[in-house]
Parts: sequence; structure tokens; C-alpha cells
Amino acid sequence: MKIPLSTRLLACCSFVDPGDIVADIGCDHGYLGIHLLKSSIAKSIIAADVNEQPLQSAMRNAIKFGVKNKMTFYLSNGVGSIPRDFTCMVCAGMGADTMISILDAAPWLKDGRYRLILQCQSRRPELRKYLYDSGYRILRETLAQDGKFIYPVMEVIYAPAEPLPPGGYHITPALLESGSPLLPDFYQRVKSGIETTVTGLRRSGSEKLPEFEAILKELNEMEPMIYAHRQ
Ligand SMILES: C[S@@+](CC[C@H](N)C(=O)[O-])C[C@H]1O[C@@H](n2cnc3c(N)ncnc32)[C@H](O)[C@@H]1O
Repeated sequence: MKIPLSTRLLACCSFVDPGDIVADIGCDHGYLGIHLLKSSIAKSIIAADVNEQPLQSAMRNAIKFGVKNKMTFYLSNGVGSIPRDFTCMVCAGMGADTMISILDAAPWLKDGRYRLILQCQSRRPELRKYLYDSGYRILRETLAQDGKFIYPVMEVIYAPAEPLPPGGYHITPALLESGSPLLPDFYQRVKSGIETTVTGLRRSGSEKLPEFEAILKELNEMEPMIYAHRQ
């Protein structure tokens, strides 16, 4: 029986280390944890969801795939009601506001022993800035494509660092180093979004224009690094 796991969630799994105890926050169907157990990567899974229905579906799937003995299930808003003895937290398929509220409510995650794997669906630069402002830093970042969408996936730890330059919250140094074959395509999409914003701000005479022009300049300066891996 094949586990219906998206490329996006497989990319999240690629940052999980062998033997990790994984907290899958917003587990929904539970397939990420089930895959990590079936592939003998994770030691055990804490599956959590704020809604009862997805949690029930994760439980049913865990039984179906024969891994329920290595999974525990929690009805929990973020990490509020789960045990803290995990090594790695995955939070995937949520927007930046939800992720920020989950992290804000759990300052105990600011501890180098936890690795956070974050796959954010919206306002990613804002999430990355929040992370750096809060003392987290991005260790690794990769890209995954499902259909026409390209999703960044980040591995994050608490280790206060210098803030990134503004453009770095759009295309991070970690992503530049990833060597992902999807990087040129993703870069063009990000740059084109900023170009559209700059055009709009120019038209409206917004005071935000210099900020976005600076981001665009930084992105243009990154271009040689984006294509370096292709040669
Ligand atoms: C779009 S689904 C993503 C499921 C899966 N992680 C994935 O990436 O495919 C979002 C899930 O997160 C859950 N969720 C939303 N906010 C949450 C929160 N604050 N704490 C825990 N779970 C949450 C929802 O109930 C839903 O099951």
C-alpha cells in the first residue's frame, strides 16, 4: 500500500534525521509521520492537530499502515498540549500568521535541542524575518514542486544570528547554497513578484518604494549565484 505523500511533504521528511522523535504539528491525515515510520527514519511520532476530524483521520491511517504503536495523538493548538520530549518539529501547510502564533506561544522552543522544519504557504519573507528577529536561524532550505507550485522548506534552530539583508528574507543564503535545480525557476517567480510590487508602488507614489527597490537590487545582485550551479 503506497502512502500518498506529496513531493512537498517528502522534502520536509528529507530534513528529518534518523532516530528523530518528530512532532508533526497540524498533522491532518498523518501521512508525513506514517512515511517517516514506514521508512524507519523517525523513532516515534507525536501527531497533533487543533481539529478533531483530522486527528481522527491520522489515527485511522496509522492503524491502516500498521504504525499506530509508534504514534501518539494530541488535540492541540500548536505545541500547547503535547509532550516536549521531541527532537524535531514539523509544521507544514500553514500560513505565516499561524506559524508565528504557534512559535510565539511556545518560547520554550527557543532551545538549541529542537530542530524546526517549516513549510509555510504564505508571507514567507515575514515568517523568515520573524524567525531572525526572535533568535532563530535558517540552517538549510530546499525547494519542492507539486504541480505548478514551488514550495520552500526550511530547517530552523534557535541560535541567535545577525539579521539577514532584506533580500535575504526572499531568497535566503541557505537556499542559495542548496543547489536545488528548482532555484532558477523559484528565483524568477520571487523576482517577478517584487518587480510587480515595485511597479505598483511607483504608480501610487508609496513611501514603501525605496524598501522594495532595495530588495529588487539585492535580488538582481544574486543572479550570478542562482545560475552558478547550472554550469
Ligand atoms: C492545510 S493542512 C496541512 C496538513 C499537513 N501538515 C500538510 O502539510 O499537508 C493544515 C492542518 O493544520 C491544522 N492546524 C491549523 N492550525 C493549527 C494549530 N494552530 N495547531 C495545530 N494544528 C493546526 C489544521 O486543522 C489542518 O489539519
